Amino acid sequence: MIAFDVRHYDQLGSTNDEARRLADAGAAHGTVVHADQQTSGRGRLSRRWFSPPGNLYLSVVLRLSITPARNIESGFIAALAVADAVNAMLPRHVRATLKWPNDVLVGGGKIAGILVEQSPEALILGIGINVLHAPEHAPYQVATIVGSGGLATVDGTREQLLQALGHWLGVWEEHGFAPIRAAWLARAHMSGTDLGVRLADRFVTGRFAGIDSDGALLLDTAQGRARIIAGDVTLDPLTET
Ligand code: BTN
Repeated sequence: MIAFDVRHYDQLGSTNDEARRLADAGAAHGTVVHADQQTSGRGRLSRRWFSPPGNLYLSVVLRLSITPARNIESGFIAALAVADAVNAMLPRHVRATLKWPNDVLVGGGKIAGILVEQSPEALILGIGINVLHAPEHAPYQVATIVGSGGLATVDGTREQLLQALGHWLGVWEEHGFAPIRAAWLARAHMSGTDLGVRLADRFVTGRFAGIDSDGALLLDTAQGRARIIAGDVTLDPLTET
């Protein structure tokens, strides 16, 4: 079982940058960088990540003996851990849903973000969870734990998250990606759901057909089944984002 070593900071530019710096200086597998706020929090697609005090921002140094092609698997592990942590704090009738590749939604709103970055020395798993605050002008629907009826503190959310992350990393180390894929699919929106996917050069629509054994999105389009390895998915395919 991974042993997490949490380093807590009042404020950082980005916890991913500090985790990367520590990893390059030899920090161990399981080192966690947690900041109360970030001044330059980063999201996917070069977006800013809204990072005021009251939410969780942390990055984990992972030293995994896998080929870079399998790094994508860590995002699914993180998404499962976030969903389990969030579910533990929400009322029982409110559940987190997963959207490819590693979005966690509650009531259709994005409640967390996951940013996996590769340093020469390690994989940096950055996770932000909206405990109290959601960004006001996000280009997508947003949610928070407390706004969804949950009871949570930032440190309590961190503990739930690290416990769940330790569990899913253990499952992955022992049994590989197959059980991660199965658990992710069990928490994802239903097969057949209409999706729109923004690719590097175009927007495609189709029906969700699951994920492949390597984590690629399977989409049934008018032209047949597509395998997508990078893109931004919307559950509202009529509204291209
Ligand atoms: C996304 O766009 O969905 C990913 C957002 C990732 C945000 C987290 S907050 C902790 C870590 N530090 C960062 O600068 N980004 C990640």
